[in-house]
Amino acid sequence: MNSVNETASKVIAVLDTLGISRAHLVAWASADWGGLVARHANRFATLTLAFPAMRLGTPDVIGLPTLSFASDQGNGPVNTRRLMERAPQAKTVIFEGYHAPLWNDLIADNARRIEKETRAHLASHPIPVVSLAAGPGRVGDIHYTVEGAGVEGAGPPVVLMPIGLVPSQWGPVRESLARDYCVISLGGAPLGMVATLEARAQSGYGAIIHRLIDEAAPAADSKMLEVGCGHGPLVRPLAARRAAGPPITGIDINAYLLDEGRALAQAQGLAKAIDFRYANAHALPFADDSFDVVFCSTVMEEGHADRMLAEMARVIRPGGRVVVAVRAVDMPWWVNLEEDAAIRRTLNELAPKTSSGAGPDGCADASLYRRVMQAGFEHVRMRLQLAVYAGDARALEVRERLLAMLQGDELERAAAAIANAEKAGSFFIAEPFHAAIGHTATGVQPGH
Ligand SMILES: C[S@@+](CC[C@H](N)C(=O)[O-])C[C@H]1O[C@@H](n2cnc3c(N)ncnc32)[C@H](O)[C@@H]1O
Repeated sequence: MNSVNETASKVIAVLDTLGISRAHLVAWASADWGGLVARHANRFATLTLAFPAMRLGTPDVIGLPTLSFASDQGNGPVNTRRLMERAPQAKTVIFEGYHAPLWNDLIADNARRIEKETRAHLASHPIPVVSLAAGPGRVGDIHYTVEGAGVEGAGPPVVLMPIGLVPSQWGPVRESLARDYCVISLGGAPLGMVATLEARAQSGYGAIIHRLIDEAAPAADSKMLEVGCGHGPLVRPLAARRAAGPPITGIDINAYLLDEGRALAQAQGLAKAIDFRYANAHALPFADDSFDVVFCSTVMEEGHADRMLAEMARVIRPGGRVVVAVRAVDMPWWVNLEEDAAIRRTLNELAPKTSSGAGPDGCADASLYRRVMQAGFEHVRMRLQLAVYAGDARALEVRERLLAMLQGDELERAAAAIANAEKAGSFFIAEPFHAAIGHTATGVQPGH
């Protein structure tokens, strides 16, 4: 994983390659824009933040003219508070009553207002136009697409960074902005949700999910499916370990993540080992009994959990297995701080609130076990898991998320206790997941 400064240098290298001296910056994750704003502010005229995740890399002072879109639900108020502490002049447009989990189509849902406000913000800080050839390109592990710039082929440059798990990303406003601006959309492993999910999969979370899949014991030639594979942070290591067998299928409804997954698989020599497909977990495009093993991790929070389980049960052959896991927002975490038990308790209780919870029909709690049985799976092994994050990129990110929830004296005490635990080498964070392994019925009676 890149530090925020490395990420910033990579983005600057893209601007240098394209000959852009100054641009507007439109972003989501602080790990993407923090280093740019802190160290390269002279390269940007404005900052626009969409439902920002103010976490790793949020600079102490945001000096750029800033516009932010925010929800007043969930973590929206926390992120807005944190933004306003650092950029008191920022204009914040609040979408009242709009729940904004990262998997919603946040831009599409609010496209008109987002476009109008963004245009007004950009127009009030004019910058020189550039004239660039439309099309894709790559600098190191960041890829970009240049679009638009009006009929004359020239416009002020706007850099768009990836946004969460949002299925259509900036699509709904990008095309329209490209009529008047030169729009440069960035992607690649160091940015956005790809970086976040990759860091999680390379940490204790990946370890528990791979152990669960091993426990389900797929044979070397098993037909396997991952439901909601994202950019493939779980399926790529699994495919890399398999010496033989058919390609593992990974489906998702996010075309941006699937494209990133294909590119990473190609770069790792795994293009033939994984079949990434655009498909919806609510209506899997596979015949009954198509797979031996299906796994699905931290996806059922986002959609209709029971429908997803029913679909998984349908496509698994008799006697096949399912492995499912969801975030456990009904449980405290363990933030290992020996010196301050009160702060530890506070953080353990607050931690489940740092993630988006579940949608109205989703599952992020212990109802998982009942649901798996109700979907018809047998011999269900219930496997409550703790993913341990220590001394890695995931630990850093979660630490920032936790600290963002606190203020004043509590924040100071927590930061001091964490710094001391890190110095002593005893700091870790454990995140709980509900997980289950189930078997589909064989139709054979025991003893026959
Ligand atoms: C938090 S990510 C997890 C990705 C991967 N399973 C992992 O554990 O790293 C959730 C993924 O589920 C996908 N997803 C959500 N609802 C879906 C649906 N109805 N059908 C297919 N994929 C879905 C999202 O697009 C996203 O890529």
